[in-house]
Amino acid sequence: MTDAAKKLFIKTYGCQMNVYDSERMAEAMGAKGYVTTEVLEEADMVLLNTCHIREKASEKLYSDLGRLKPLKQARPDLKVGVAGCVAQAEGAEILKRMPLVDLVVGPQAYHRLPEMAEAKGQVVDTDFPPEDKFEHLPARKAYRGPTAFLTVQEGCDKFCAFCVVPYTRGAEVSRPADRLLREARDLVERGVREITLLGQNVNAYHGAGEGGDWGLGRLVRELAAIDGLDRIRYTTSHPNDMADDLIAAHAEVPELMPYLHLPVQSGSDRILKAMNRKHTAEQYLRLVERIRAARPDILLTSDFIVGFPGETDRDFQDTMDLVRAVGYGAAFSFKYSARPGTPAAEKTPVAAEVADARLQALQALILDQQRAAQAAMVGREVQVLYEKAGRKPGQMVGKSDHLMAVHVEDPAGKVGDLVRVRVSASAPNSLAAERISA
Ligand code: SAH
Ligand code: SF4
Ligand code: F3S
Repeated sequence: MTDAAKKLFIKTYGCQMNVYDSERMAEAMGAKGYVTTEVLEEADMVLLNTCHIREKASEKLYSDLGRLKPLKQARPDLKVGVAGCVAQAEGAEILKRMPLVDLVVGPQAYHRLPEMAEAKGQVVDTDFPPEDKFEHLPARKAYRGPTAFLTVQEGCDKFCAFCVVPYTRGAEVSRPADRLLREARDLVERGVREITLLGQNVNAYHGAGEGGDWGLGRLVRELAAIDGLDRIRYTTSHPNDMADDLIAAHAEVPELMPYLHLPVQSGSDRILKAMNRKHTAEQYLRLVERIRAARPDILLTSDFIVGFPGETDRDFQDTMDLVRAVGYGAAFSFKYSARPGTPAAEKTPVAAEVADARLQALQALILDQQRAAQAAMVGREVQVLYEKAGRKPGQMVGKSDHLMAVHVEDPAGKVGDLVRVRVSASAPNSLAAERISA
């Protein structure tokens, strides 16, 4: 190649599945000679990988595109692409509203991105193609650090009344187990020691494997057997899909980390029903007991929506009670956002100031629990995988088994080291620790 490599700037919004997709899109464009850049002004192509989950997330795309206008005017040959869930939901509408966009590609069609980038004029591809996009993407060989995401399942068939994912990502599909094992081995070969398995409904995984369909528990066990893969996590799980075998894996597989994101959304049976979550608060609490019986030190996290249409003060108090009963290590909480095309969007919303007050109260409670969970680590020995150097000289930063950020004084430490440390202090969002082993 005589030309300097073309430069690709990617901005990723939304969930970890988008982070994974952005990496794979960068790799696909890499095969066409593009290298990624963090500097917007030097990019030959800008790709915005978008999220449609709440109104605010969606609107970010349009404000960012607005900011790109001067750049595109100065350099008309700059390619501007929109990928992800807004691309899927709005398709060609994006081109109408924002003529500076050259291409729109949905989450199931992005293996076609390299061709689309070469096309003349505006192009849109929001197909759910029959071919498996992963089979058309380059293998994962470049080193990017000791942790990686691996999408094992995509889409969702649950149709919670508030949620756009079944529409933007399509029906639930599990990737075949042998391909996942191959991708995991490729990742480990390039230096990855921790893999987080991803899916909007990851614990519903049921991919074709040796001897028939494998559930997530079986997949975790087979992955744990890969030499050099030290840590496994998975996210996001629906309470109704926590199979016995997966719960047992938490007791039996040392590589499976004691951490589980198990969104409940609400503690009120009435609201859970209206949300179409298909379980009660009591069933969730019983499930939590079974998981803790298998792995007593497991740290649980969740997602909550407040102000869902019809939510009364009593319903909200039920949510607060559930949070007190479980005791979370952390949780995300959101104000309900009506999404076009979802059943709940037809209903009368809760007044904004009521929803705001509930959100504040819930977040305060969750923050208390998060601080307590972190403070409980002080004095304990934990394992940390170093992900980067800290801001202070001689300091390394990594995650503990419980996915807490830990700062360690360790001048000899290197990225990728998995070390034992003793926690000495707890700050609001991280722990401080001293190394105690080689
Ligand atoms: N598959 C996951 C969640 C995916 S979306 C699950 O089933 O739990 C991530 C989170 O965004 C959800 O858990 C929910 O709390 C929140 N969310 C989804 N739709 C929303 C909406 N319309 N308004 C506010 N929050 C929403
Ligand atoms: Fe959305 Fe999760 Fe419900 Fe699926 S299970 S519809 S992704 S909230
Ligand atoms: Fe957002 Fe799509 Fe993920 S809507 S949360 S980017 S699946």
